[in-house]
Amino acid sequence: MISLWLSRLKKSLTEREAQGLLRQLHARTSSEAHLNLADNDYLALSKDPSVIAAAESALREWGASSSASPLVSGYTALHEELEKKLAAWHGYPHGIIFNTGYAANAAVLGGIPREGDLVLADRLIHASMLSGIESSGAKLVRFPHNDLDTLELKLTEAVNHTGAVFVVTESVYSMDGDSPDLKRLSELRERFGFCWILDEAHATGWHGATGSGLQEEQGVRGAADIVVGTLGKALGSQGAYVLSREADVRASLINFSGEFIYSTYLAPSSAAAGLAAIKRAEALAEERAALHVLSREWRGALTAAGFVVPEGHSAIIPIVLGDANRTVHFAKKLKDAGIKVSAIRPPTVPAGTGRLRISLRRGLTSAHLNKFITAMKEAAL
Ligand SMILES: Cc1ncc(COP(=O)(O)O)c(C=O)c1O
Repeated sequence: MISLWLSRLKKSLTEREAQGLLRQLHARTSSEAHLNLADNDYLALSKDPSVIAAAESALREWGASSSASPLVSGYTALHEELEKKLAAWHGYPHGIIFNTGYAANAAVLGGIPREGDLVLADRLIHASMLSGIESSGAKLVRFPHNDLDTLELKLTEAVNHTGAVFVVTESVYSMDGDSPDLKRLSELRERFGFCWILDEAHATGWHGATGSGLQEEQGVRGAADIVVGTLGKALGSQGAYVLSREADVRASLINFSGEFIYSTYLAPSSAAAGLAAIKRAEALAEERAALHVLSREWRGALTAAGFVVPEGHSAIIPIVLGDANRTVHFAKKLKDAGIKVSAIRPPTVPAGTGRLRISLRRGLTSAHLNKFITAMKEAAL
């Protein structure tokens, strides 16, 4: 007889498959020659010689693992140097490294808001933040995506709230590539006195004069109370970080976050790669302007070809196709043409908004753009 728990699993999987939404793993090989418009290596730093050399040298000096959780012996001089560098880069006095952005968000949102508090969160915040908020016991109220008028209304309604109030946003949204007005958020913060938690995961490297992110680009460096960022996207490495103006945020995470305390710490080679990547990202000041031009060119070419894409200059371009099967059809046709894109379907995005998510990267040429637009037009036939 099939056990209850297993029949439950089978039922959920069968339902998901029937909806055309089954997720499956496909192992890629290192020799795969597709034009990669799917990953988050926006500055192509994961293969940068200086980043690889730094990781290699750390591997030889420290070995392949940190071999322990950070409070035991996993925290090395490299982790310390990295947290200090990241904090200074973003304009904060305190920082702490986490193993992943998911863990960092779950720890911050799960540990800092408490029962009786109110969390006002953008409708499209990342699953990791949502998971943290849900475990915190705080009341979650979501506002429409990037709608700061509605946020202001909700803040006004909450002026007599007795618990703490948090506002949670990203700076560049992972599935939409768009951004809120950070200056206005910073003004709202001044006026209402909430704690602003900002995820800069997809902005760092691509935005800002020195590449630290969208706070820097929009002239509000250091405005958010707590910033979460990752090393696994434009910084070409692995791991994540939490920055704050208050030393107690760092101390609380070290003392109370299970994600931090009970897990083997990030490998020293990943910390070394992150440090080298920051150096490279800072040095790309002039190229960053060209990357923003590239983003506008790709959006313009897609619009001219009849696709609906938002304006902007981030590294992420969503092409909303609606139906999940249509989205998969486009991704398959592009793959046949030698182009890898991600087909994003519900539940990652709202129902009816299946999309191709195009990640731009340093090194893309007009030949790549032509190849991509030709394949998109053929897929649409
Ligand atoms: C906005 C955002 N925050 C956090 C994360 C998680 O980061 P990591 O991949 O380092 O776990 C992601 C990953 O996709 C993300 O898009």
